[in-house]
Amino acid sequence: MLQFLVLGAVATVISGRYENVNVKQDWWETAVFYQIYPRSFMDSDGDGVGDINGITSRLEYLKELGVEATWLSPIFKSPMHDFGYDISDYYSIQPEYGSMEDFEQLLKKAGELNIKVILDFVPNHSSNESEWFVKSASKDEYYSDWYIWENGHLDSTGHRSPPNNWISVFRKSAWTYVASRDQYYLHQFGESQPDFNYRNPVVVEEMKNVIKFWLEKGVAGMKLNSFNHIYEVDKDSYGGRYPNEPMTGKPGLKPEDYGYLEHIYTKDQEETYDMVSQFRDVFDAITIRDNLTRIMMTEASTTIKNAVRYYGEGTHSGAHIPFNFGLIEDLDKDSDARDMKYTIDRWLTYKPLRKQANWMTGNHDTSRVASRFRSELVDAFNMLVLLLPGIAVTYMGEEIGMTNGFVPWSETKDPQACNTDDPVNFIEVSRDPVRTPFQWSNGKNAGFSHADSSWLPVAEGFEHLNLAAQRSSIRSHYQVYRTLTNLRMRPAFKYGRYESLALNNDVFAFKRWYNDDTYVVVMNVGRTYHVVNLTAFDLIFGQLEVEASSVVSSRTYSDNVQANYLDLAADEALVLRMQV
Ligand code: NOJ
Ligand code: MG
Repeated sequence: MLQFLVLGAVATVISGRYENVNVKQDWWETAVFYQIYPRSFMDSDGDGVGDINGITSRLEYLKELGVEATWLSPIFKSPMHDFGYDISDYYSIQPEYGSMEDFEQLLKKAGELNIKVILDFVPNHSSNESEWFVKSASKDEYYSDWYIWENGHLDSTGHRSPPNNWISVFRKSAWTYVASRDQYYLHQFGESQPDFNYRNPVVVEEMKNVIKFWLEKGVAGMKLNSFNHIYEVDKDSYGGRYPNEPMTGKPGLKPEDYGYLEHIYTKDQEETYDMVSQFRDVFDAITIRDNLTRIMMTEASTTIKNAVRYYGEGTHSGAHIPFNFGLIEDLDKDSDARDMKYTIDRWLTYKPLRKQANWMTGNHDTSRVASRFRSELVDAFNMLVLLLPGIAVTYMGEEIGMTNGFVPWSETKDPQACNTDDPVNFIEVSRDPVRTPFQWSNGKNAGFSHADSSWLPVAEGFEHLNLAAQRSSIRSHYQVYRTLTNLRMRPAFKYGRYESLALNNDVFAFKRWYNDDTYVVVMNVGRTYHVVNLTAFDLIFGQLEVEASSVVSSRTYSDNVQANYLDLAADEALVLRMQV
């Protein structure tokens, strides 16, 4: 008992312990970031659309979860063809979401609660309704070269065709004709999202100004969206014309599909990494001036070797947090414990040694854990995100194990889905199911809005799967999540070392330790019962005590287990502490 009390004291009074060993971490280095999709989080004014005041009214909830920062999907002025990822004015707030005063109020409240706010910024493209694009389309002298304009082809019959074969991420040609210039503009995403021309220094300057503007307003950082798309190949190296991209030869794809081509000229261009570092300088300048770190997060869905280049190279600093999509892109329903170990080790292996890793299992573009894997594994995945070394990022709703909603074709809003023109197969690419309203309660619209209907329908099953129900239940994903964010404050999880094992095909386990405080996180991701022996880890023996258990587990806090004989039910996940 005495031992228990002493260890407890070490865990809660962290500071005294770690000052001795000279471990110092900046606010972001092991923080929990919570991603909010503002449209779907909380509607304060009853129009069926989430808004800024809605977020402000729920900041206490983030605090309660043990979250230290939030990153908000875009809130800037936008015609909402891609729900904010098509910005028409980078310096103002989308009126439907609120006013600048509302946003300042959000920052104030967040500051009082010591929650940092990060904004999602879209540097690759603006909306075609932005004044910059409208002026560019009319060949205004200053704005003329802000976007990628190119001549098409006109054949002898008068038939006009695009400059080359490039395809948009959302399907079909990446080029759209504009009569006023008798030219095509490039859009790597939707038609309403023209790509900026990063070879024009004036554009780069303006983007830096946007970052400065929001940092000066008091945001703690920015997340830079689709960063690996910002440059296209330099056409001057190809005789002044953008070259065709080669075909992938992947079976089952149509020429309009994005995967039909190998994107060697539109993604991951070498110049990208210098731009990362140029943007980082903007963050650093304000960081140094204020003596408070402003962070840069980058999003790039790319190869592992490219992904870790975003950390910076040599004397060039990169992003503080280059998003790691491993748990999202490399694992699926068929993955087992070995795949998990492999995926996790991969990021840890490729990232620069002294940089922080980061972990996420979801976002507004990706099927939810409960649907992508199964709901019984929600706690196991939250254990990964929150207890692996480094930064944790949770997409709203993952803490309560929300499932994908069902959004029929008639109510589908996602441009990526609408662009399929396919009322049956749209479901394979639609991102609406992961953007359905947050399930606060079993009330009207799941407590999200007073409106008659919400902008996307609430997911089925919300009557049982909602925050209120999980708050009042002793065992729930929400309770597990809170236990985990609490555990994460302990030195073993903040600064501790890491080792992992696939104990068999179904059971993944990892050990975290700091001095003599040692934990084993173990999860059976298979569908059958297993007995495992944790003494396969160095220095794990005797008894371990349960600190947290998944809702499907029959074990609870402070139960004891034997290191050399641990029986695990299917889907059971445990956080165990070595007894000394
Ligand atoms: C990535 C964002 O996450 C996605 O939602 C968006 O559609 C594209 N970038 C285009 O901006
Ligand atoms: Mg609203």
